[in-house]
Amino acid sequence: MMLKDKVAVIYGAGGAIGGAVARAFALEGANLFLTGRSLGPVEAVAQDIVSAGGSADAAEVDALDEQAVDNHLQFVTDKAGRVDISFNAIGLPNPKTRVPLIELDVERFSLPIATYTRSYFLTARLAARRMVANRSGVIMTITATISRTGTPMVGGGGPAMAAVEALTRDLSAELAPQGIRVVGLRPQGIPETARIKGSFELYAKASGLTWEQFHESLASRTHTRRLSTLAEMANVAVFMASDKASGMTGTVVNLSMGSLDD
Ligand SMILES: NC(=O)c1ccc[n+]([C@@H]2O[C@H](COP(=O)([O-])OP(=O)(O)OC[C@H]3O[C@@H](n4cnc5c(N)ncnc54)[C@H](OP(=O)(O)O)[C@@H]3O)[C@@H](O)[C@H]2O)c1
Repeated sequence: MMLKDKVAVIYGAGGAIGGAVARAFALEGANLFLTGRSLGPVEAVAQDIVSAGGSADAAEVDALDEQAVDNHLQFVTDKAGRVDISFNAIGLPNPKTRVPLIELDVERFSLPIATYTRSYFLTARLAARRMVANRSGVIMTITATISRTGTPMVGGGGPAMAAVEALTRDLSAELAPQGIRVVGLRPQGIPETARIKGSFELYAKASGLTWEQFHESLASRTHTRRLSTLAEMANVAVFMASDKASGMTGTVVNLSMGSLDD
């Protein structure tokens, strides 16, 4: 087991990515502390894991609320003795409409930048304060290919994802000397998730294509001629969280199947 007895906290664990990562971590023996803004979906993931023989606790934590994150990490360290892995997978709801930058108001532009940077900063900083004592830990971020590719109609999403990747590198530069690795994953859109299904539908409609045609046009840009799956993303997350990845920090794994050059 690659994560046997590792204590892992996941933010946004009721979502598609957070839930898939939680299940994959559990299969590898991690002791999970799952959190989300709404308790119901997080509890459902935790119950699945416990029913399958794993260990998972569910809690309602707003990952933008400093006190709530700090209190929860204190609960985790009191109960499990330490925090080994912090994985933030929160996601803002998809906008209902796509607006060109020239028509976008500043509040809507700024929202993803302020939200993602605040949440990633808070969860990383508060976990790192606990990890430093053990000179060990892994902090993980998740971004998207819009961090690196000019993409129309994503508003502040591209700058937000680029900022999280910069934060991943800067945290690593400060924390790696103290034994803490900071690594990111940059998946392409995974069509089995509700988020991507919804945004493909909007893009497809705007381009006069069906969902299938739009999906196919994205898949055709990859080397594999298909988009990746949640399971493939979660397997990489397991490896990056494990001690097998001890040689990797300050980097973001490109999961674009070749559609985005390094
Ligand atoms: N899905 C993909 O294919 C894909 C690809 C590349 C990158 N990503 C990125 O990965 C992240 C997660 O994507 P996803 O598909 O898993 O999204 P998702 O299914 O919408 O899940 C996001 C989760 O985050 C929770 N959340 C939102 N704000 C929160 C907060 N302040 N505190 C705690 N939890 C909060 C949501 O809870 P509520 O429902 O209660 O708000 C939801 O459970 C996003 O940043 C997305 O851009 C996703």
